[in-house]
Order: sequence, then structure tokens, then C-alpha cells
Amino acid sequence: MRGAWMLVGLLLGSGGACAAAPDRPDRAGAPPAPSAAAAPGAAQPPRPALPTPARGRLDAAVAANRACEGCHDEVAREWRASLHRSANTEPAYRRAFAIEPMPFCRGCHAPEAAPAEPEPEAVGALGVGCVTCHVTAASSADASAGVLAAPWTRPGPPPAAPHPVVRDVRFAGAAACASCHEFSFPTARGSRRPEHLMQSTLTEHRRSPAADRPCADCHMPAGAAGRRSHAFVGSRDPAFVRSAVSVSARRASATAVEITLAPANAGHAFPTGDLFRRLEISAEALGPDDMVLGQADRFLARHFAIRPGQVGRHLTADDRVHAAPVTVALEVGPAGEGREIAWRVAYQRVAHPEGLDERDALVEGEIAVASGRLAP
Ligand code: HEC
Ligand code: HEC
Ligand code: HEC
Ligand code: HEC
Ligand code: HEC
Repeated sequence: MRGAWMLVGLLLGSGGACAAAPDRPDRAGAPPAPSAAAAPGAAQPPRPALPTPARGRLDAAVAANRACEGCHDEVAREWRASLHRSANTEPAYRRAFAIEPMPFCRGCHAPEAAPAEPEPEAVGALGVGCVTCHVTAASSADASAGVLAAPWTRPGPPPAAPHPVVRDVRFAGAAACASCHEFSFPTARGSRRPEHLMQSTLTEHRRSPAADRPCADCHMPAGAAGRRSHAFVGSRDPAFVRSAVSVSARRASATAVEITLAPANAGHAFPTGDLFRRLEISAEALGPDDMVLGQADRFLARHFAIRPGQVGRHLTADDRVHAAPVTVALEVGPAGEGREIAWRVAYQRVAHPEGLDERDALVEGEIAVASGRLAP
């Protein structure tokens, strides 16, 4: 990666062309002065912008990202396997986009594209890149424009970087993720009312017991060397998904079970994110050879309706697991009497439903969260 080093060296050598205020004390080896210590009335450097959708930096972003990857090997390896990298190529997204091909979608799933135009292949393949989160200058995606980073909290000074590092406490918090992980339906014209939100992870996080824990605490855990993971663990990791709740079940009567989901390691509602994520809670009365004699199920989700005369979907109910335990009672009918009842909780990723009947939805992925059997 000699080329990349030389390029950055040239840019820095040419008078330090940094649009945003670089973290100079850093490179001198001293910890950065807390901004509160600045003299009252002293001019504060402008706060850097946080990551946003719809950046339109196109090929310049692809080239700059390649340079980041060349130097930050391990981080790049993790990111390449993440859903941020495949945000625009993931089959689940491609199928949904084929049904609703809107510039709006491109803004987040191919954020370095120009939203109104089909994205060049390399720009789409970049997805949410290093540059999308770390280089927020409008005009440049190059590291020399200043790389956004969290405040340094590990012992000793941070290692010297060949590019300006702009530390901002907001980048260590939920604000770093906010502009893409909470937004309203395109038809709601920017309304922030809960029923108009297509994803509401930030609001859920603010109201959760983990409100004071940054998203990165759980989604970018620090490894042995103290460096944060860029794999962005989430819906594809069974152990992580299971950690969201603790589940218990009891026989409520001869023919009914009660299943309780108590929030555990979730930093927001469970499930959160995409509007079609849900939990399927089910129970079956079992006869000889586990023959199913009676059955009941329920879906915990955000439930939407399409109202005549109104554009788009509207939230009508939200029975997901929030800050308090949720108990679901399932009645399997008379067949349950004197029989074992098997119960199950499954997390499901669901494709764009054609109709609104929950049972018509196509399940694209499923993780068994908990299950068990209750004696008569
Ligand atoms: C020429 C090699 C090189 C290039 C190109 C480069 N970096 Fe760095 N960067 C470093 C080195 C070396 C450090 C200091 C050691 C470290 O933190 O890994 C650093 C530090 C950082 C830090 C600060 C870590 C911290 O908190 O102290 C971030 C964030 C970062 N780079 C991101 C990027 C991004 C994003 C890009 C692309 C836009 C990029 N870098 C391009 C070599 C490079
Ligand atoms: C979705 C946004 C996002 C993407 C994409 C992303 N990063 Fe980061 N990165 C962050 C955040 C947020 C932090 C700081 C987390 C903290 O310490 O609170 C971070 C931290 C870092 C650090 C410091 C790590 C440490 O803990 O020492 C480096 C270096 C870095 N990123 C480089 C990269 C590179 C290189 C890429 C692309 C291969 C990349 N990042 C992609 C958001 C992102
Ligand atoms: C520029 C927009 C953007 C920013 C900024 C951003 N994300 Fe994302 N994120 C996305 C998109 C788009 C996806 C969906 C990728 C897919 O599956 O198609 C995603 C997916 C994820 C996933 C995987 C979800 C799953 O189903 O497993 C996690 C976890 C995540 N983001 C965490 C974060 C965190 C933490 C931050 C802040 C440090 C952040 N993101 C910042 C756009 C963004
Ligand atoms: C206390 C830990 C914790 C915190 C804090 C946290 N999350 Fe999560 N997150 C989880 C767990 C566990 C899951 C898997 C269960 C689930 O899907 O909800 C998850 C899942 C997700 C998913 C996948 C969507 C889904 O449900 O399939 C996204 C996207 C996400 N989180 C984004 C965020 C963002 C953005 C923040 C900050 C505003 C955040 N998370 C804060 C633990 C956390
Ligand atoms: C403001 C940003 C934003 C916009 C606009 C947006 N998305 Fe997303 N999308 C996300 C984030 C963040 C996630 C990750 C949440 C999760 O995994 O649950 C996501 C996840 C998805 C997923 C699940 C992908 C997977 O890997 O499971 C699909 C499908 C999807 N979006 C389709 C669309 C479509 C179609 C549009 C346009 C109608 C759209 N999105 C617009 C941010 C956005």
C-alpha cells in the first residue's frame, strides 16, 4: 500500500488541506484537550457533520474507500462481511427494491450514489462504506478531508495517523447512526409521528433501559486489542438475536400456555429495524408420535394498515418487546386437555408482503429464539 501512503503524504504535505479541524494534540502524542476547557467566548472550531444518506460522491468515494481498506486491513475484512457493505446487493434488499424502486431507497442502501440515477455498479457494491461514516465532507471522500473518530479513551496516547483525525463525542453515540436507522415513509413527507415511521430504532433506544449505552457498545464490541469490531453483528447472528430476551413458559390451564419474553440485551424494541421483522409465538398440543392435535400462534410486530383514500402504510399497533416483559397466552383448544403442549418463539425476517395478512408473508430467514414442552 505504498501508493496510498504516498498519496496521503502528498496531500498532508501540501499545507495540510483539512477542511475540518484535525485532532492536532493527538499527533503530538498528548491527549486532546476537552472542549469544555476552552476559554469562554473563544471561537470553537465548526462541529463536523455526522454521517447521512444520499451523498452522491460516486467514483471518488469508491477510490477513497479503497485507500482506507489498504491501510486498515482488519477493520476492512470485518466490514466486507457486514450488511453495511452489502446494503445495496443483499438479495432481500434487491427483491424489495424491485417492487419499490425509489430514489429514496438508494439514499441509504447505496449512499454514495446520486439518488435519482441508477447507481454505477462499483458505487452500489460499496454500500455503506468507510467513507460514508468517517468522511463527512460534502465535497471529498478522501481521508485528507479529515476522518471522523470517537474520543480516545484507551490508556496512553492514540497512535499517530497519516491523515487528520477529527474526534467528536457525538460519533461515539447513537447520533452516528441516527440519520439512517430512523426515518419516515416516503409518503409521510418527513413527519416524525410514530405512526409514520418506517424504522424507529433511535426512538426505541431512547426509551429502552439501554438508553445511555451507545449503539456501538453492542453492535461494535471491542476485541482483545480494544479495537471495535466492524462486522456490525445483527439479525444474521443466532446467539446475538437470542440474547435480546429471556423467555419463560408455563401451563396456564389444561388447554393454554403463557409465554413471557423479558427484555435482556436489547437496546431497543425486539425486533427493531426493518418494518417486516417479527416474532412468531406458537404452541401445539401433541398427541401420539408428536401428532399435532391443536395449534395456536401470534405475531409480535409493528402492524400496518393501508387505509382507503390515504397514501402509504400506517402503523396501527406495536406489540413487540419494549422495556417491559410481554406475556402471550395461547389457547390450543380442547385437544390440549391431558396432552403435552410444545411452544416456540422464532425471530423472522419477512419479505415485502403482497397483501397484509400476516400468514401470507414470505419468511426469508428465521432464528429459533426459544422452545420447550410443557407436561399436562
Ligand atoms: C496511508 C494509510 C492510511 C490510510 C489511507 C487511511 N488510514 Fe486511517 N489511520 C492510519 C493509521 C496508521 C492510523 C493510526 C493507527 C490506527 O488507529 O489504526 C489511522 C487512524 C485512523 C482512525 C482513528 C482511530 C483512532 O480512534 O485513533 C480512523 C477512524 C481511521 N484511521 C479511519 C480511516 C478511514 C475511514 C480512511 C479512509 C477514508 C483511512 N483511515 C485512511 C492509516 C491510514
Ligand atoms: C456504519 C458506520 C461505519 C462504517 C461503515 C465504518 N466505520 Fe469505522 N467506526 C465507526 C464508529 C461509530 C467508530 C467509533 C466507535 C466508538 O469507538 O465509539 C468507528 C471506529 C473506527 C476505527 C477505530 C477503531 C478502534 O476502536 O480503535 C477505525 C480505525 C475505523 N473505524 C476505520 C474504518 C474503516 C477502515 C472502515 C471501512 C473498512 C470503517 N471504519 C467503516 C463507524 C463506521
Ligand atoms: C449511511 C446510512 C447508515 C449509517 C450512518 C449507519 N447505518 Fe447501519 N445500516 C444501514 C443500512 C442501509 C443497513 C441495511 C443493510 C441491509 O441489510 O440491506 C444497515 C444495517 C445495519 C445493521 C445490520 C442489521 C441486521 O439486520 O443485522 C446493524 C447492526 C447496523 N446497521 C448498525 C449501525 C450502527 C451501530 C451505526 C452507527 C455506528 C450505523 N448502523 C450507521 C445504513 C446505515
Ligand atoms: C444493549 C445492546 C444493544 C444496544 C445498545 C443496541 N442494540 Fe441493536 N440489537 C441488539 C440485539 C441483541 C439485537 C438482535 C435482536 C433484535 O433483532 O432486536 C439488535 C438488533 C439490531 C438491528 C437488526 C434489526 C432487527 O431487529 O432485526 C439493528 C438495525 C440495530 N440493532 C440497530 C441498533 C441501533 C441503531 C442502535 C442505537 C440506536 C442499537 N441497535 C443499540 C442489541 C443492542
Ligand atoms: C433512511 C435510510 C433508509 C431508507 C431510505 C431505506 N432503507 Fe431499507 N434499511 C435501512 C436500514 C438502516 C436497514 C437495516 C434494518 C434491519 O436490518 O432491520 C434497512 C433494511 C432493509 C431491508 C432488510 C434487508 C436485509 O438484509 O434483511 C430491506 C428489504 C429494505 N431495507 C428495503 C428498503 C426499500 C425497498 C427501501 C425504499 C422503499 C428502503 N429500504 C429505504 C435504511 C433505509
